[in-house]
Amino acid sequence: MKIVLGVGGGIAAYKACLLLRLFKEAGHDVRVVPTQAALTFVGAPTWAALSGHPVSASVWDDVHEVPHVRIGQQADLVVVAPTTADLLAKAAHGLADDLLTNVLLTARCPVLLAPAMHTEMWTHPATVANVATLRERGVTVVEPASGRLTGADTGPGRLPEPEDLFAAALALLESGESGQRSREGARPAEERTRGRRSDHALAGRHVVVSAGGTREPLDPVRFLGNRSSGRQGVALAKAALERGARVTLVAGPIEVPAPDGADVVRVESALQMREAMTVAAQDADVVVMAAAVADFRPSEVAEHKIKKSADADDAPVVTLVRNPDILAGLVASRRAGQVVVGFAAETGDETGSALDHATAKLAKKGCDLLVLNDVAAGKVFGKDDTEVTLLSADGTVTSVPAGTKETVAGAIWEAVVPLLAP
Ligand code: CTP
Repeated sequence: MKIVLGVGGGIAAYKACLLLRLFKEAGHDVRVVPTQAALTFVGAPTWAALSGHPVSASVWDDVHEVPHVRIGQQADLVVVAPTTADLLAKAAHGLADDLLTNVLLTARCPVLLAPAMHTEMWTHPATVANVATLRERGVTVVEPASGRLTGADTGPGRLPEPEDLFAAALALLESGESGQRSREGARPAEERTRGRRSDHALAGRHVVVSAGGTREPLDPVRFLGNRSSGRQGVALAKAALERGARVTLVAGPIEVPAPDGADVVRVESALQMREAMTVAAQDADVVVMAAAVADFRPSEVAEHKIKKSADADDAPVVTLVRNPDILAGLVASRRAGQVVVGFAAETGDETGSALDHATAKLAKKGCDLLVLNDVAAGKVFGKDDTEVTLLSADGTVTSVPAGTKETVAGAIWEAVVPLLAP
């Protein structure tokens, strides 16, 4: 692994030499990036000799290699030990006035900061606020140890022992790897974990969501499709990520980008969606069928583009066959404790209200929760706002007030979480 060891200007910089040795002995490729002040405590030759890489605190050395961007971009882990109060402030505010602060802005990997300073500085409201900001963004800021500080004074502010920092760094590296799930582009560790800290309701859960419509092919260029935009399914996937879940999004054609951090499986037809959902559901805790699946597909798919004949009245007749009911199949094969959520787009008619139809559908499909969209007068498709009613298998009916699809997604997860096995 490529580790960047940032070193701030504190007397504890000498401990970073031992941490560097531990990383090297474990086989990691370590690049040391000290601040100018750190070099006052431990000189560049020491870092260069121990790491086997050139050492600079400045963005102006080896400019042809663009180190201020490349070092951060290529890192698998950034550890800053010691992190001074000044470095915490710079990191919290995105300043980039030397090589290390540039690395912190360009890193797309887990970041661990190990503060070391006098107790007064550590407990100052400015530092407290900076640490809170960084943690909120997903940066790991380890607590300093308590004990003897540089002078005669004691208190919290000591840099933890190198062995402890080494263990914390490796643990972060492992969790960072398992958090790096997006097949559609990596993003900073800070962003990946944003939101998870405030609400861990789905932490450790695997959530599978289908989204969008399906396309049922007629020939190589034509298909039967529907108006689903995929917004609700994508909002559900995003809200699940924010609640700490591992998310698989099985996406038919969708008009909105898939959320970063989800495993995205692209499909087109209902048969492909059934295949992808069945595979993904095998180890899932929650399965949500938010997709608008075509109930029918052309019985035959022409191998070549269907051509008009000379006869102006001639038109092909398309015969349709039923598609499998994916939701019903998932319910039938669900593993113990798995929660299955379905959607129902209904309108009231002479035989009953939308709620009546949804109640019947919940019973027919056998899912744990049914999200009812009243689609009378085109209220749902492609719109940003929606209004749903949640029907539980135990007979509970909950109206969710009108709101964005993101807000509604949150309400759906609130209803799902109590159904999950502990
Ligand atoms: N669904 C599915 N497979 C299908 C059709 C629908 O998995 N072939 C799922 C949808 O994703 C949704 C739920 O079933 O979660 C209900 O979809 P809806 O179209 O409202 O119901 P249908 O079962 O198709 O019933 P109908 O259209 O006859 O009302």
